[in-house]
Amino acid sequence: MSILEEIRRIKEAGLYREFRTIEDPQGPRVRIGGREVILLCSNNYLGLASHPALVEAAKKAMETYGFGACASRLVSGTMKPHVELEERVADFKGREGAILFNSGYQANVGLITSLAGRGDIILADKFNHASLVDGCLLSGALFKRYPHGDMDFLEGLLKRHHGRGRVLIVTDGVFSMDGDVAPLKDLVWLKERYGATLIVDDAHGTGVLGRGGRGSLEALGIKDESIIEVGTFGKAFGSFGAFVVGRKEVIELLRNRARSFIYTTALPPAVAAASLAAIEIVEREPERRSSLLEKASFVRETLRQRGFDTLGSRTHIIPLLVGDPRACIRMSERLLEEGIFIQAIRPPTVPLGTSRLRITVCADHSMKDLDYAVETISSLLKEEVHAP
Ligand SMILES: Cc1ncc(COP(=O)(O)O)c(C=O)c1O
Repeated sequence: MSILEEIRRIKEAGLYREFRTIEDPQGPRVRIGGREVILLCSNNYLGLASHPALVEAAKKAMETYGFGACASRLVSGTMKPHVELEERVADFKGREGAILFNSGYQANVGLITSLAGRGDIILADKFNHASLVDGCLLSGALFKRYPHGDMDFLEGLLKRHHGRGRVLIVTDGVFSMDGDVAPLKDLVWLKERYGATLIVDDAHGTGVLGRGGRGSLEALGIKDESIIEVGTFGKAFGSFGAFVVGRKEVIELLRNRARSFIYTTALPPAVAAASLAAIEIVEREPERRSSLLEKASFVRETLRQRGFDTLGSRTHIIPLLVGDPRACIRMSERLLEEGIFIQAIRPPTVPLGTSRLRITVCADHSMKDLDYAVETISSLLKEEVHAP
């Protein structure tokens, strides 16, 4: 098949993807095509992306360290802000050690391929993020997926594969496209019972859930040094990059084995400095978290009470099931005409037949904008769902 033919087929299936360009700083409202719209599909959950403290920290670091790191961490790219951030993240998460990666994608690929290979087995939730899936595929380990959240199925797999090499259980903490939280207590019990290693990617829980914003594990009162956790700076922290936290020896192994850590230029020090500033705010201003969760609950519960399918969401990520990808795009376009930006999320990001509008609420959305959005979404969705 030619490339043009492949593109034509993507278009025909309603799966073609295009950019929407934001013309000013990220925030609850942004400008697109010269027009201000309410932004309801950003991961800037706490409104930190344009926070003056992050901008100032980055500026100051640029004045002190220049811009690029210009080598990988293990050559000459390790600069003071990298080291400070690793120490700060380990402290924030209450863990022995931390290692930075340039993105969550790279963290997941590097982590999984470092811990599993031929002769090992990886058991993963079917709804895990693509970066976890890619890490599992790349590792060369036997890779089995269990139906979303199905602990009986997982236990069956654990029984069958017990005692054959290293066993990894891999899950999102907050599922990125569904907004539900993994059954982490059950997962901890199963990994103990079957001697497995548990990896939790809490990209969307970090900064948001738990009293101190430490994420899904904190929210559920789980403290277990053996769990390996991934978090990102590009979402609630409003910055960029990612990290893995866990026992010291895990971090040491990743420093020596993770190809996506070793063979890439280190993050610009100014980015690390901005992330440091973000952690300070997350710790100092819990009211951002409570405001976000209250507003998310309002949007989620109102839509649910009106009979719309929010797919089991319990967090600030609120999917609205549409089903057909073309209908989903149509909804997204019509919403934009009404001044609301929500992307249509379609396969392969989500399973076939489950195209959805993924609404993400942020702490700095006004109630007036959220009221307007809920009313507009409700009336458009009703029309779309009941359309012949
Ligand atoms: C669960 C999850 N893990 C990892 C990532 C990747 O993180 P990053 O955007 O930093 O590459 C994302 C989102 O992009 C995500 O939703």
